[in-house]
Amino acid sequence: MPKLAVPVSGTGSILDAMIKYNVPINLVIADRPCRGLTIAKEAGIQTEFLPRKFGKDFDRKEYTRKTVQVLESYGIGLIAMAGYMTVLDDVIFLRYRNRLINIHPSLLPSFKGETAVKDALAWGVKVTGTTIHFATEELDQGPIIAQEAVPVLKNDTVDTLWERIKVVERRLYPTVVRQLLNELA
Ligand code: GRF
Repeated sequence: MPKLAVPVSGTGSILDAMIKYNVPINLVIADRPCRGLTIAKEAGIQTEFLPRKFGKDFDRKEYTRKTVQVLESYGIGLIAMAGYMTVLDDVIFLRYRNRLINIHPSLLPSFKGETAVKDALAWGVKVTGTTIHFATEELDQGPIIAQEAVPVLKNDTVDTLWERIKVVERRLYPTVVRQLLNELA
């Protein structure tokens, strides 16, 4: 079975669900201090903190090179991003083609990008959801592995809708990641 890395930047609730589903995680990497990093440490998972700069001083190529170096040093064979917010340089997508997946809180190709939940609400769509896909050089655009729909309710805010989506994600992502690990074994 390939070794699994989970990159995080946020609250880490999807990572937490993966841990609870006993998905075998070899490494958690974080690009900023975040709850995800704490969750990983508390679960006894190896962590690497790779702080990045924000703004014009951020050297995306160099940061990606460093990230790939760390992943390679752990012999990682599958990467499952879970709320990871850095857009990495092309080099990682070439190195880990079909070995790098992402979960996004919309039914792609609708509502790409960071404001997916807010945009779905603003459009007034009645159904949105979550998409698990292979990550490629184009943001939120790789081949789709799994999707599940979530209804938008009348009085939804970004928070209530996103939480309803995450409830589905916390079940779907661990299942899909485990399946992929088995297929790649
Ligand atoms: C999820 O909604 C996922 O689709 C998106 O980021 C969120 C991660 O949530 N990419 P958390 O940090 O695990 O709570």
